Amino acid sequence: MKTQVAIIGAGPSGLLLGQLLSQQGIDNVIIENRSAEYVLSRIRAGVLEAGTVELLREAGAGARMDREGHPHGGFAFSFDGRLERIDVHALTGKNVMVYGQTEVTRDLMDARTAAGSTTYYEAQDVQPHDFYSDKPRITFVHEGQENTLECAYIAGCDGYHGVARKSVPADAIKTLERVYPFGWLGVLSQTPPVTDELIYANHERGFALCSMRNPTLSRYYVQCTTDDKVENWSDQRFWDELRTRLPADVAADLVTGPTIEKSIAPLRSFVAEPMTFGRLFLVGDAAHIVPPTGAKGLNLAVSDVAVLYQILRGVLLDGRTELVARYSEVCLRRIWKAERFSWWMTSLLHKFSEDPFSQRMQLAELDYYTSSVAGRTTIAENYIGLPIESID
Ligand code: FAD
Ligand code: DHB
Repeated sequence: MKTQVAIIGAGPSGLLLGQLLSQQGIDNVIIENRSAEYVLSRIRAGVLEAGTVELLREAGAGARMDREGHPHGGFAFSFDGRLERIDVHALTGKNVMVYGQTEVTRDLMDARTAAGSTTYYEAQDVQPHDFYSDKPRITFVHEGQENTLECAYIAGCDGYHGVARKSVPADAIKTLERVYPFGWLGVLSQTPPVTDELIYANHERGFALCSMRNPTLSRYYVQCTTDDKVENWSDQRFWDELRTRLPADVAADLVTGPTIEKSIAPLRSFVAEPMTFGRLFLVGDAAHIVPPTGAKGLNLAVSDVAVLYQILRGVLLDGRTELVARYSEVCLRRIWKAERFSWWMTSLLHKFSEDPFSQRMQLAELDYYTSSVAGRTTIAENYIGLPIESID
């Protein structure tokens, strides 16, 4: 079998790239090693930057998001008994959209079905080959049958644990990494959110985040240890800990109930350089990971797609093969800034040690940034999403 662009992975980056290419009449095939149901069962990101919202609309996958998503014009930091709002809309003129990654993925899957594009789910032994030649291909097993997919380009959209990055020769890639000494315990609960907007809390017992999916579905997180287990956290223990880490008047309004999902995520910063290897591109989590503080992971995957889409359009529709060389440098400029913001938000809000000096530094920094227009603006413009460069 043959296609123009072979895409490994049907997460948000693979599905969005596929949809944008299909709209331009560029043939593409997605190969995913899990089932569609499994992909949809993963509870992950919840906040979409303004640029992500625009690109989903451009891809023809924004109608339900516009009906059911919730635009937010701000969020708050809680620290030292205070609640300080960042008025993102007043400072940037834009809103973020609260709409879950699961819903984005479902909308993109539906759009792909409507476009009649091919996806192989539950593929095994997926392996890219010959991407330094002009005849790359992917081999995989599907329903017991061995297949070879020939293509012009390969997009490795297969996440941090995927095969694309691992297939690159070790001397062609450099990875930079920071692992944090804590994780996030997240719960989803069928209860009204404690406030209308998100709260990021710095507390002497550790970080907490109040988020949501809709007016009856809340998403909450508390900082936990790296070796912690979900089994250690009864619902009661979780709610008690969350309440302790919030300002008293907010905690008083917390509605609790049975949790419907509970999971622990490690926190890491990771970047692979470069992101292009011959005719193989790494996209999204396959190339970089941010700690979740600041909600950049999914949005960064989408900005890679925005750049790669423009490049592949230029190459495959207009023969501008010289554009391939620009992908990595254009993406990495924005990625490192999002890495910085996520690292900074993580450093500002989490408990790293019992050291009272470090805790005072965090409080002073929060006080400093939230009490000047300049400080609030730098936070707001990173939160709403830095500009995505256009390829001309
Ligand atoms: P993924 O969503 O990882 O998709 C990759 C796809 O490739 C998957 O469907 C996978 O099954 C498939 N795949 C993997 N290996 C192969 C293979 N060998 N062959 C074929 N297919 C393969 N971001 C936030 O902004 N906020 C959050 O709260 C947040 N929480 C997160 C919690 C967890 C546990 C994780 C892991 C991530 C979280 N993120 C969060 C990050 C965000 O979800 C990711 O940045 C986003 O999913 C990246 O999209 P992607 O399409 O690049 O990768
Ligand atoms: C969510 C996750 C985040 O990492 C974040 O910064 C904001 C919201 C969420 O899952 O809702």
